[in-house]
Amino acid sequence: MQDVKKAAVIGYPIGQSLSPLIHKHWHKTCGIVGEYQKYAIPPDGLVTAVHGFINGGEFTPDGLIGFNVTTPHKEAIMPLLDHIAPMARQIGAVNTVKIQQGKTTGFNTDISGFKNQLETIVPDWPKDKPVLLLGAGGAARAAVMAFLSTSVPFIMVANRTREKAESLAHDMGQGRVTVLDWADRHQAVAGAGVVVNTTILGMELGMEGHKALDLDLSLADPHTVVYDIVYKPLETPLLKQAKELKLRTVDGLGMLVYQAAGAFKLWFDIDPAYDDTLKQKLLTRLNQA
Ligand code: ATR
Repeated sequence: MQDVKKAAVIGYPIGQSLSPLIHKHWHKTCGIVGEYQKYAIPPDGLVTAVHGFINGGEFTPDGLIGFNVTTPHKEAIMPLLDHIAPMARQIGAVNTVKIQQGKTTGFNTDISGFKNQLETIVPDWPKDKPVLLLGAGGAARAAVMAFLSTSVPFIMVANRTREKAESLAHDMGQGRVTVLDWADRHQAVAGAGVVVNTTILGMELGMEGHKALDLDLSLADPHTVVYDIVYKPLETPLLKQAKELKLRTVDGLGMLVYQAAGAFKLWFDIDPAYDDTLKQKLLTRLNQA
């Protein structure tokens, strides 16, 4: 009998997750007999779900090699795991869990996912200039960690709720993270090498309550790179504005794929490819939704 490698993703809601499509594509291209299921787990069901994943039972009877964790569980999962990798510990969020001999280890592959997408799309992005980063949630922490591993002089964080940006700067230490008032974001575009949106603004416009990010890019230097981690729509109003100003842009779909690649590597020790077939499958799915 073939050994089916089972993995999963948990979140709430989870219906729109593209992770099953990505992982199933790689099962095929890498010759793995695998399963990848999504589970909608509300916050009050997290403990039971994780127990089931590790010990069998309601969710997966046997052989789960790991699972991905998405909103809103990335922080709440941490006390439920046996070990946490140092970078995940430092940013306080886990998006990938590996299970070995019944023991769980939490990792964060959003950091490498964020960085790989930037390096792939704009290999010569300006590394000698400060970064302007909007947002202070889990995605912002992953992006800040990614920039801290480069030579950028400092990272300016602006968030609607200033205290959250301050606590991010405090937790990530190293003196290279500074905090700006949200109102000062337009001015701070001047001189920034990379401008990053990690807020949810711009996502699924047209849905009730969803708004575009209000950021004026007119002070940007011509070499500035504008990176929006929102991938639905793929061209957010921010990226549209950047293209009109002839700035280089990076969309968020690759971050999603590369964070999945990080998880795949942890589970199977294989670097899967972000090939054109996968890209087409993802674009088709995004256009259908
Ligand atoms: P994630 O873990 O995916 O980063 P999150 O922790 O919920 O998600 O963070 C969402 C980010 O979007 C936060 O920076 C949030 O700002 P606040 O900390 O002030 O809530 C930002 N955000 C959400 N709605 C916003 C809005 N209407 N205007 C400005 N920022 C907004």
